[in-house]
Amino acid sequence: MCSIYMLVVAIVLPCCFEILSLNCGTLMKETLRYLAGIVGPSGYGSKSTAEQVAHSCSYLVDSQRLTAIITGATSGIGAETARAVAKRGVRVVIPARDIKKAAELKERIRKDNPNAEVILCEIDLSSLASVKRFCNEFLALGLPLNILINNAGIFSQKLEFSEDKFEMTFATNYLGHYLLTEMLIEKMIETAEQTGIQGRIINLSSVIHSWVGRDCFHFNQMLHPINYNGTRAYAQSKLATILHAKEIAKQLKAKNANVTINAVHPGIVKTGIFRAHKGFITDSIFFIASKLLKSTSQGASTSCYVALSPQVEGMSGKYFVDCNESNCSVLANDESEARRLWRQTRALIRRRLYQTPC
Ligand SMILES: NC(=O)c1ccc[n+]([C@@H]2O[C@H](COP(=O)([O-])OP(=O)(O)OC[C@H]3O[C@@H](n4cnc5c(N)ncnc54)[C@H](OP(=O)(O)O)[C@@H]3O)[C@@H](O)[C@H]2O)c1
Ligand SMILES: *[C@@H]1O[C@H](CO)[C@@H](O)[C@H](O)[C@H]1NC(C)=O
Ligand SMILES: *[C@@H]1O[C@H](CO)[C@@H](O)[C@H](O)[C@H]1NC(C)=O
Ligand SMILES: *[C@@H]1O[C@H](CO)[C@@H](O)[C@H](O)[C@H]1NC(C)=O
Ligand SMILES: *[C@@H]1O[C@H](CO)[C@@H](O)[C@H](O)[C@H]1NC(C)=O
Ligand SMILES: *[C@@H]1O[C@H](CO)[C@@H](O)[C@H](O)[C@H]1NC(C)=O
Repeated sequence: MCSIYMLVVAIVLPCCFEILSLNCGTLMKETLRYLAGIVGPSGYGSKSTAEQVAHSCSYLVDSQRLTAIITGATSGIGAETARAVAKRGVRVVIPARDIKKAAELKERIRKDNPNAEVILCEIDLSSLASVKRFCNEFLALGLPLNILINNAGIFSQKLEFSEDKFEMTFATNYLGHYLLTEMLIEKMIETAEQTGIQGRIINLSSVIHSWVGRDCFHFNQMLHPINYNGTRAYAQSKLATILHAKEIAKQLKAKNANVTINAVHPGIVKTGIFRAHKGFITDSIFFIASKLLKSTSQGASTSCYVALSPQVEGMSGKYFVDCNESNCSVLANDESEARRLWRQTRALIRRRLYQTPC
């Protein structure tokens, strides 16, 4: 009994990697806390919604005009995050591969807040050339940039390769966002200097990052896997996301930039990302876990919290769950691993995009 319970809880609960070493009693206590939505030091918990969080941060938003870029906002957690922050007056830029879907979202946002400013652009995050094109297009608009939410993500059981001939999950979830952040970071630093408002980068990660062991985290194998496993590829991309956030946080600090970067686990939400999934979380486990699953609005709350809350000011290189700082895995905390990944990615992108060695 306890073992099936542990399995379900380990998938859903934020601290799953620790759970495996906890006894059943401690586990029950953690589960009860999650189920009851008991709030942490931030005043929010697992049941807080994006709108509640964004609303209570509104004084920060209303006083100054903020601009945010949110990727993957055409569905799920990203769409709800965009709606909640736009409602509070943040100007949102939505880069999407499906402009028609993006236009529908814009309609929905405008229904909620007729004054909301929503800008749509085209991007395919799996393509380095497309990301570069979007960044140049955005920079040409001459807008400030306060918030960047790297939210788009895929989870695919089928091995596919991107236009650049990299494994699709890694290309979309990690490489595309790496380039996006790299090309926009100067703009964020500049905006923070000019406005005196701290810039914030938020990366959507997942607890699943903790499933990756050191022996299956090799850069070249992630680009060109031999035995593809969708769950593993997804977990690897999410680990890469946290490592990257940590490395960039260090670099920003060294530059004295008033820009922070943090990673977020939104909770497990039944969004489009599970569309194609039979094997990963089966329907029966979904059924058992349905009490533990979050609504999309609850899933978007942690992104909104880290993007807007004054409580997060100055915090960088951290990992958040349920609007609360949390622990990530040992490997995700490894600074030399983070440094190596950053170097390898940089070299790869230099080679591909600029045909120059780093
Ligand atoms: N749902 C969960 O339980 C869960 C748990 C942990 C972490 N997360 C993370 O949370 C984030 C949001 O997930 P979600 O559950 O909201 O997923 P979702 O509903 O499937 O939304 C994913 C979004 O990413 C976009 N996207 C995918 N590939 C893209 C590409 N190549 N170029 C541009 N956009 C692309 C999708 O655009 P289209 O509309 O065009 O498909 C969609 O807007 C992801 O990073 C995910 O890994 C989710
Ligand atoms: C929030 O984090 C603190 C440590 O910073 C921890 O003591 C507390 O249990 C967490 N709260 C929840 C609801 O997870
Ligand atoms: C996370 O943030 C880093 C640093 O800004 C970025 O380069 C990286 O690609 C991001 N990853 C994702 C998946 O958002
Ligand atoms: C960074 O931004 C915060 C406001 O978001 C501001 O209080 C602080 O003074 C800024 N720091 C610097 C060095 O500009
Ligand atoms: C894929 O990887 C996951 C996580 O590492 C593992 O639990 C699962 O059994 C693997 N699936 C297959 C078909 O090998
Ligand atoms: C993280 O782990 C440390 C040590 O294991 C613990 O003291 C701390 O409370 C944990 N923090 C959270 C937010 O869970």
